[in-house]
Amino acid sequence: MIKIFAKLRDGSTTAISTKPDGSLMEAIRDSGIDELLALCGGCCSCATCHVHVDESWLSRLPDMSEDEDDLLESSEHRDNQSRLSCQILLTDDLDGLKVTIAQAD
Ligand code: FES
Repeated sequence: MIKIFAKLRDGSTTAISTKPDGSLMEAIRDSGIDELLALCGGCCSCATCHVHVDESWLSRLPDMSEDEDDLLESSEHRDNQSRLSCQILLTDDLDGLKVTIAQAD
């Protein structure tokens, strides 16, 4: 199991314990957090799984694909810490990852 820390829109932080065998989006959604709509189910076509990744973790994530980059452009809340959580596959190396759920567009 690994632990992920998700900061919600009300400023509170939830610790999520999960097996590192799916995407970050699935771990957040399956923990019961309903702020991450993930409408497309992880197909990289909705951008409703937008998170801001804590700066210290950014370089440890896989590079963003062109599709993810294009889709994030449609969000008015994009910044240089933005990622789509469905495109981040969890591994043991991401134990302790900190993210903030992006504001809804
Ligand atoms: S769940 Fe739709 S883009 Fe991530």
